[in-house]
Amino acid sequence: MRDTNESGPGLLGHSYALETGIETLAHYEAWADTYDEEISEELGYAQPVRCAAALSAVVNTQHGTPTGHVLDVGCGTGLSGLALEQAGFTNLDGCDFSAPMLDRAAATGVYQQLFAADLNEGLDVPDETYDAAAAVGVFSFGHIQPSALREILRVVRLGGAVVIGLNDHYWDLGTFQSEVDAIETDGVANLVFQEHGDHLPGADIQGWVVVLVRAGD
Ligand SMILES: C[S@@+](CC[C@H](N)C(=O)[O-])C[C@H]1O[C@@H](n2cnc3c(N)ncnc32)[C@H](O)[C@@H]1O
Repeated sequence: MRDTNESGPGLLGHSYALETGIETLAHYEAWADTYDEEISEELGYAQPVRCAAALSAVVNTQHGTPTGHVLDVGCGTGLSGLALEQAGFTNLDGCDFSAPMLDRAAATGVYQQLFAADLNEGLDVPDETYDAAAAVGVFSFGHIQPSALREILRVVRLGGAVVIGLNDHYWDLGTFQSEVDAIETDGVANLVFQEHGDHLPGADIQGWVVVLVRAGD
């Protein structure tokens, strides 16, 4: 596990020291029961609402309500899905590699389907299955690697959007931004939105929301 002086309170601080998928799985197994309380209630987790608003601004709408089949990648306990539902999305699936987190997500009742997947190994989902995808708080140390962004884009239709929310600690590494640049250069997708703002205001952590739209529609 990495040494880090970027730690926050509770199990949050531990999150920034993770290096491997095995460490990350164990971390969320221990955190599933208290994640919502620490992240949302105590620290005011802002990214789910920011990401849902950014995605709803770029997708098709019907009578002012966003439409489309959306995959919540790394859905965790479902905070990201709940924010998407509150933004008007009603056709949501979710996936995560942590069984205890998926159990919590199921209890929210906002997902049509939930399935286990390790994004660093790929998704067992046909090309262009979804109209959009969200990945909120999942590109991070020991979590989903930047290369998985192409896999997420693969399962979204041409012209569909992917919203990503990530914290400054990971953004500042530069590897995620390099992957976005490469994806644009390769003509796979275009960056249409990028905004800095609150991530976990209660821990004084900020972060970025970005939206990519698949090229070629
Ligand atoms: C910080 S939580 C974010 C959960 C939710 N999206 C939210 O905003 O509250 C990160 C989630 O990513 C999941 N995760 C981490 N690495 C993963 C991987 N390689 N494949 C799938 N899920 C992963 C964890 O299990 C955890 O539920």
